[in-house]
Amino acid sequence: MKSIKYFIQSDKFNIPIAVKAWVKTFRNDRFIAVNDGSTIQNLQLVINPENFDEALLKKINTGAAISAKGELVESMGKGQRVEVLVDSLEILGESNPEEFPIQPKRHSLEFLREKAHLRPRTTLFGAIMRVRNALSFAVHKYFQENDFLYVNTPIITGADAEGAGEMFQVTTLDLNNIPKTDEGTPNYKEDFFNRKTNLTVSGQLEAETYAMALGKVYTFGPTFRAENSNTSRHLAEFWMIEPEVAFMDLAGDMDLAENFVQYIIKYVLEHNLDDLQFLEMRLKNEEKQKPANERSELSLIEKLSFVLDNNFIRLSYTEAIEILEKSKPYKKKKFKYPVAWGVDLHSEHERYLVEKHFKSPVIIFDYPANIKAFYMRLNDDGKTVRAMDVLFPGIGEIVGGSQREERLDVLLQKMRDLGVDEKELYWYVDTRKFGTAVHSGFGLGFERIVQFVTGMSNIRDVIPYPRFPGNADF
Ligand code: 4AD
Ligand code: MG
Repeated sequence: MKSIKYFIQSDKFNIPIAVKAWVKTFRNDRFIAVNDGSTIQNLQLVINPENFDEALLKKINTGAAISAKGELVESMGKGQRVEVLVDSLEILGESNPEEFPIQPKRHSLEFLREKAHLRPRTTLFGAIMRVRNALSFAVHKYFQENDFLYVNTPIITGADAEGAGEMFQVTTLDLNNIPKTDEGTPNYKEDFFNRKTNLTVSGQLEAETYAMALGKVYTFGPTFRAENSNTSRHLAEFWMIEPEVAFMDLAGDMDLAENFVQYIIKYVLEHNLDDLQFLEMRLKNEEKQKPANERSELSLIEKLSFVLDNNFIRLSYTEAIEILEKSKPYKKKKFKYPVAWGVDLHSEHERYLVEKHFKSPVIIFDYPANIKAFYMRLNDDGKTVRAMDVLFPGIGEIVGGSQREERLDVLLQKMRDLGVDEKELYWYVDTRKFGTAVHSGFGLGFERIVQFVTGMSNIRDVIPYPRFPGNADF
C-alpha cells in the first residue's frame, strides 16, 4: 500500500486509492483528516454522511485507525491540494474519545513525556522523529560516500574509555547473595563474563584499533553514561557517532567535523522542509512567551542555513579564556563557575562565546591536558593536548574529539599519570606497538544535533524513550 506522502504529492487525479491511517480530526460530519506518519501533512477524506451508518460515524474519533477507499481528486477547499472522495470506510481500531489523551489541541511537553508511548501520534513528535530519521540516514550517507567503513563496537565492555568512571555495571550476579573474594569484595570471576563489565561510554578505543587497519571507520550506536546530570542536554542512554581516521591530524579532524555536520544539516533542509517549517512555527510561538531580549534573532531555518553558509570559528582554549576574562558577565560576576586557565569550560562559558561573542558555531582546540582524557595527544608545550570541541548555539558542546597520542612512551606515561590500567588496556596499547601512526577522531552526540535541528529545548523530547536519572519507564 502506498503511503499518504505519495498521494499528497500526486499530480495524477481521479484515480482510485486506498489508505489506512489514524484519524486526526473529524469536522462537520464530512471531513476526516488522517495521518499515517509518512508526512506531516494530513490527507483529507471527504464523506457523505448519508451514505454511512450513524454507528460507524460515531466511531470516527481522534486516534482511531481506519481504512478508506475512494477517489483521489484535486481539492476545492483551501489548505490542501488533494482530497479523497470516500466510497467505503472501515474502522480498524476504535479510540475512546473520553480516554485518548492526545486530543487535537496543544499539550505541554511535560504532559507528553508522561505519555511517551502516545506522543508520536502528535504532529510535533511525528516531525521530530522524521527529522531524526533523516539525520541518521544522512550520517550513513556521508560516511559511505567518503569511503568510511561502518564498524559496530561492543556495547558490553570491560573498558572505561573516557576514564571518568560514569558507567552502568552489567552483571548476572545475585545481588542478594554476592559471591565474595577472600578480601570480601565481589568475586567477578563468578560473574557471567568472569570479570567486571559495564555498558560502553564510547566506542572510540575499539574504533581506533579498526582505524589502524581499515583506515577510515565510524561507529553509530548507543552509549551509556551514569552521570547524575539532570539537564536539558544529558541523557543516560544516547546515540553517538564516532569517526576515526588513520593518518589524520587535529586540523583534519576539525575539517571533518565541520564538513560532516554541515552535510547532515543540509540533507535535512533538502528533504524535510515541511517538518522544519512546522518546527520553526512552533518555536516562533514559544519565543513569543519570552522577554524580547531573550528571543532568538534568527528563525529555525535561518539558523540552520547560517551554519551551512559560515565557517565555524576556530580558536585555542587559551584564546577562549582570554576572551572570557574580558567579557561583561565575567567582570560583573555573572558566571556561576570560575574562569581561569586550567579550569574546564562550563556550558555558560561555551554559550557566551557562541551566542554572544562570536554569534557562530565555534571550535575550541588545545585544551589543558589535565581536564581531558588520557588518549589525547600531548602538545610540545607539555601542558595542552590536541583536543577539540565543537560548540553550537543553544546547545553548547555538540562534538568532542582529538588527535590521539600515537607515541607509545608518551601514552604509557599519561596512563600512569591518570591512573589508567595499562594491563587492562593492553590491546589498546598494542596499536602503538605495531604500526603506530598519527590518527584522530571525534564523537557527535546524535540527540544534541537532533535538538539543534529541531529547535527542541529539552533533549528528552528528541529520543523516543528518554533515559535519565529516576526514569526508565516504557
Ligand atoms: O565529549 P565526549 O565525552 O567524547 C567521547 O566520548 C569521545 N570518546 C569521542 C571521540 O573522540 N570518539 O562525548 C562526545 C559527544 C559530546 O560532545 C556530546 O555531544 C555527546 O557526545 N554526549 C552526550 N549526549 C547526551 N547525553 C550525554 N550524557 C552525553 N555525553 C556526551
Ligand atoms: Mg566532551
